[in-house]
Amino acid sequence: MEEIKKQTILSGIQPSASSITLGNYLGALKNWAMLQDEYNCIYGIMDMHTITVRQTPAELRKNTVSLIAQYISAGLDETKNLIFIQSHVPAHAELAWILNCYTQMGELSRMTQFKDKSAKHHDNINAGLFTYPVLMAADILLYQADLVPVGADQKQHLEITRDIAERFNSIYGDVFTIPDAYIGKESARIMSLQNPTAKMSKSDPNPNGCIYLLDDIDTVVRKIKRAVTDSEACVRYGEGKDGVNNLLNIYSSVTGKTIDEAVAEFASCGYGELKAAVAEAVAEELRPIHAKYDDLMKNKDYLESIYKKGSETANYISRKTLNKVKKKVGFVL
Ligand code: TYM
Repeated sequence: MEEIKKQTILSGIQPSASSITLGNYLGALKNWAMLQDEYNCIYGIMDMHTITVRQTPAELRKNTVSLIAQYISAGLDETKNLIFIQSHVPAHAELAWILNCYTQMGELSRMTQFKDKSAKHHDNINAGLFTYPVLMAADILLYQADLVPVGADQKQHLEITRDIAERFNSIYGDVFTIPDAYIGKESARIMSLQNPTAKMSKSDPNPNGCIYLLDDIDTVVRKIKRAVTDSEACVRYGEGKDGVNNLLNIYSSVTGKTIDEAVAEFASCGYGELKAAVAEAVAEELRPIHAKYDDLMKNKDYLESIYKKGSETANYISRKTLNKVKKKVGFVL
């Protein structure tokens, strides 16, 4: 029988803080862990993207290694998934340069992330921030990824990646696989607990709005119990109930229950009970992750062996695509 070739997945997270958020975990990482048997999975620690915003060098180094431990403790089996550090694979920067020459200023200026980030960091609107989506396109296209599991906020970046790839292919033939986004349903956009019309993010002005994967359990419970809801005091999912919708989305993403099942479960409950149940479900989810993370961080040599080996393989795979591209555009090899 002919063996069916597994499709390829590529995704990544920026090491821009000492812990990823519950949004990163539910929107991306938790889905990755569920895909690891069916797909050929490749995950980057996207440190080159991180320096589009000013970083403290020692922190960035620490956060990069910590993120590898967070990937594994959140469920990525390091023997089944290729985990690498983006800056260890020069093909990303090289392809990004080439693709810059196939991307229009107009397309980049429409990116909402660029608009948001340049408003937040108006003293440092650097060219890297502007061409960020081209580097992201290079990340994806180098590995000929079929599927890119991300949260809803990255959808626009996936669309521009497809546009760049299609443009390149239309000039030079089938060089790149055209990737599809894979976006979960309930977990696509986890909102701030304090302002549930804004996405949960580490830059939330209110520290109670964002849960971190590595927050201690008491802090997690406290933040969920303080979550903003509404004055209707009725657990249902619907328009104008952003706070309750968000709690139900979190509950559903963590437990695997559908929204309808969750709503039925809390039908006769007040918001206090809903929050207590969500807090307990999230705590249950995070406890084993914390234990595994603490263990892994005691063994830095092991973590180093993972990213060294991962980057070697990533270099090998990405070189193949890069050489093909260089040949197509007319560089002497
Ligand atoms: P980053 O580091 O901001 O976020 C990592 C992943 O987490 C998702 N996410 C969320 N999902 C649901 N609710 C939220 N509140 C939430 N916040 C974040 C993001 O959608 C993302 O999937 N540009 C990317 C990193 C990147 C990348 C790539 C991703 C660089 N190269 C190639 C995929 C493929 C980013 O900044 O994600």
